[in-house]
Amino acid sequence: MTKLRSAKWFVPDNDIGFQHRAAMRSEGFARAAFGGKPVIGICNSWSELNNCNVHLRAVADAVKRGVWSAGGFPLEFMTISLGEELMMPTAMLYRNLMAMDVEEMIRSNPLDGVVLLCGCDKTTPAQLMGAASMDVPAIMLSGGPMLRGMWRNRALGSGTDLWKFWDERRAGRLSEKDWHELEGCYSRSAGHCNTMGTASTMTALAEALGMMLPGTASIPAPDSRRLAAAEETGRRIVEMVHEDLRPSKILTPQAFDNAIRTLLALGGSTNAVIHLIAIAGRLGISLPLGEFDELSRATPVIVNLQPSGQYLMEDFYYAGGVPVVLKEILSRLHGDTVTVTGKTLAENVRQAECYNSDVIHPLDKPIHQEGALAVLYGNLAPHGALIKTSAASPELMRHMGPAVVFDHYEEMLAKVEDPDLAVTPHSVLVLKNAGPIGAPGMPEWGMIPMPTKLLKQGVKDMVRISDSRMSGTSFGTVVLHISPESAVGGPLAAVKTGDLIRLDVPARRIELLVSDEEIKRRLAIWQPSQPRFRRGYYTMFLDHVLQAHEGCDFDFLRGHPGERPYEPIIGRS
Ligand code: FES
Repeated sequence: MTKLRSAKWFVPDNDIGFQHRAAMRSEGFARAAFGGKPVIGICNSWSELNNCNVHLRAVADAVKRGVWSAGGFPLEFMTISLGEELMMPTAMLYRNLMAMDVEEMIRSNPLDGVVLLCGCDKTTPAQLMGAASMDVPAIMLSGGPMLRGMWRNRALGSGTDLWKFWDERRAGRLSEKDWHELEGCYSRSAGHCNTMGTASTMTALAEALGMMLPGTASIPAPDSRRLAAAEETGRRIVEMVHEDLRPSKILTPQAFDNAIRTLLALGGSTNAVIHLIAIAGRLGISLPLGEFDELSRATPVIVNLQPSGQYLMEDFYYAGGVPVVLKEILSRLHGDTVTVTGKTLAENVRQAECYNSDVIHPLDKPIHQEGALAVLYGNLAPHGALIKTSAASPELMRHMGPAVVFDHYEEMLAKVEDPDLAVTPHSVLVLKNAGPIGAPGMPEWGMIPMPTKLLKQGVKDMVRISDSRMSGTSFGTVVLHISPESAVGGPLAAVKTGDLIRLDVPARRIELLVSDEEIKRRLAIWQPSQPRFRRGYYTMFLDHVLQAHEGCDFDFLRGHPGERPYEPIIGRS
């Protein structure tokens, strides 16, 4: 057994050790409860400001049962929690802050191992980033997806159906009564979004990376099997401490390769590209955008979930969940990567069985022959841009049209409602100043609403481009993550209304059809706008955030020491 990190706090027979022990005794624990046992932190992102994670106190209680039964000593602690629904301007602004919170809470406390309780979109990457940087044994458990929404016997998918109903409402085809009724049917339980949005994608990828017990990512939030999984997770982390099984042994370049392949087979969220780059960056592993594109060309989409497909997360779990997907694409994965079970990925999924091949297709009958994403380059995106091809319109994959430019989000919101907006179905909507620095925080503004004027004509999709992100539940022919962003003088800043833009997804190109000289001339006179707000954390964010193709982490958080992490000096505080 390895020497326990917590021994530095609890063993010394001096006044400082006394203080640490007395602190635990003051919480009502007997000396035998923690003496010489692995101390397991339960890192909880519970918050009443985050409906997706609001059940995580009960999940933590089940984890504690497992830790106690395996001979460990559980201590639950809270970090900030990032709820997509309420945080403004975007939870993404705070992902790095939460990652720092997780890392520093582990570093500064007597913890030998941690259980990471995540759920809503950004809580998963933030916890993985913090745990990767700290590198004590860690295992993740998500809160699971919410139940499917139900309205008049019709299943409702988080986000995906909301955007559709909102367009119907804007076009005058949905009554106020129906709209209000929908509000009460849309999210029927705790848990994260029930589509293959960012939360479902990231928790599935945590399983593919090997950081979560097999089969646990997609258990519905209210299902009793989630609590049983929590208990099992609690037992396993105690063993992992004894085995010294750390994230750096699990999160290898091969594991990230597996995660990218899984993302593509899932038809998962574009946001996962940014998060995987950021998590890998914590370990000094580089994931160039080109790698995503290369793997995408060779990895079919096999999961039939909204927004790329038809079904919801409950259906996915009942069909067999992530282990079935991994088993199906195993021939294209590194099956020998180590996971939190102590076994390999291939061993973990050997027994997996598919119970509904319309939800998880066999590899030889995919939904899309190629993967879900394409990486685009061109004079508009020298460092790359993304499009979710699996949720886009095939007839718009090659398109040329005149730009309709919105300089910022508020202008866009006002103009898409304008009945006199000079726009046709052939136009290309362009949103600037929506990237990491411009917004700030790179909100999910990329699925620019269809102009009401076109909606009323029955037009459902058009080409839209920005330096923003979009929700994993979104759909449409939307080019995102343009890098460098317009707010730092990327070529997107040079686009003017009326300029021709050409999108060619098969050729992986996004081009502004204006001469190089003219683009140069426009950028030479371009002036950055002043940040709207500069105080405290915003200042740190604006000074240190990296661009989308680099994962939007802070420059000073990337890289891993490659040795035992820095330990605090134990002394009087
Ligand atoms: Fe939390 Fe979608 S709002 S996962």
